[in-house]
Amino acid sequence: MNALSSSTELALFGGEPVRTTLLPYGHQSLTEDDIQAVLDVLRSDWITTGPKIDEFEEAFAAYVGAKHAVSFSSGTAALHGAVVAAGVDQGHEVITTPLTFCATANVVLYQQAIPRFADVTPDTLTLDPSEVTRHLSSKTKAIIPVDYAGHPADLEEFLSLAEHRGLVVIEDAAHALGASYRSRSVGSVSHMTVFSFHPVKHLTTGEGGMVTTDIDAYARQLRSFRNHGIDLDARARQRTGQWYYEMTSLGYNYRLTDMACALGLSQLSLLTRNVQRRREIAQCYKDKLGSATGLCLPFSRSDSESSWRLYPVRIDQKYANGKRDEIFRALRAEGIGVNVHYIPVYLHPYYRTRFGERAGICPIAEKVYTELISLPMFHGMTDQDVNDVVEAVDKVLSHFVAGAC
Ligand SMILES: Cc1ncc(COP(=O)(O)O)c(C=O)c1O
Repeated sequence: MNALSSSTELALFGGEPVRTTLLPYGHQSLTEDDIQAVLDVLRSDWITTGPKIDEFEEAFAAYVGAKHAVSFSSGTAALHGAVVAAGVDQGHEVITTPLTFCATANVVLYQQAIPRFADVTPDTLTLDPSEVTRHLSSKTKAIIPVDYAGHPADLEEFLSLAEHRGLVVIEDAAHALGASYRSRSVGSVSHMTVFSFHPVKHLTTGEGGMVTTDIDAYARQLRSFRNHGIDLDARARQRTGQWYYEMTSLGYNYRLTDMACALGLSQLSLLTRNVQRRREIAQCYKDKLGSATGLCLPFSRSDSESSWRLYPVRIDQKYANGKRDEIFRALRAEGIGVNVHYIPVYLHPYYRTRFGERAGICPIAEKVYTELISLPMFHGMTDQDVNDVVEAVDKVLSHFVAGAC
């Protein structure tokens, strides 16, 4: 739609950009049915903690093949709930990856526990099981692997480690709704799996999150935790004609609204199609950029299927050493909304101030961080959008990468 000329002069230096309007790196897609579903709730008796909560949770649990799904007001709140249900408390340690959004580790701090960062594997950039083993201690309570970009982490390795050491595996699957791991849906493998429904994800409720689990005790605790530590919610009390309730533990108001759940339920009906579209886009990038000099595409293992929340490419140091930021700026100037995922969490100023300088503790994550650029990836992208990205990447690389054609 926005393709302009095939000028080879970079827009960064005054040439014609590939697009005149910026293609975002992620974006929601809402249908008229989605909008109608929210309007229907607005005209009903319950706009929060009503019937849509149960409907959405049941449909979501069935989709991923889990016994329980417990909704939360955000993915971060859902992670916090999972950490609390796992029993993480003051003085405990939780091992996680530095290559993630800071929320993954922040929820450990919410509990006055300590996040320990273990390095990632060089292929999938997910938490490395052997690095996790190095960081285990008598204080370790849980492991939080992240399904980076939508590719499942080494879940069975973490589960077997957890079994030997009495730990809990909380999978951060904020990127991986719709992904599969050894023929099982993400959401049905770990002790608890956490999803996010932020607008750039596969399914959105505006803000929102979910924890799936097969363990009844975790589901009970999660429901209570999101509702101030009170076991009976308002609707359940109304149903049974009771006013009496007790708060039995310290919880929060982390409830998702009925409006949001109606949107989630409606979005769920298109999830399979939307994940499929993301896979088509990833395949197209692979076909068209697979042989580009200076570019490493994301790796997929044969036992897993990513759901492609992100499409993070790496600028090969051999060809374009230190030029990631210039390439990033040049792509933006071409109208391509690239991004970077992620600054290793312990390099953020808050973590540096609180825990001291720890540069060097995860060398793979730190090196990869200097090479990463996330190309646009969302299911609403048109074929033309994908072609614009490919054209812009080719154009920019041919300028910056020594030896590129
Ligand atoms: C890996 C990861 N974990 C957790 C979160 C937090 O989710 P939310 O934004 O829904 O709170 C995000 C959000 O992008 C994320 O990417």
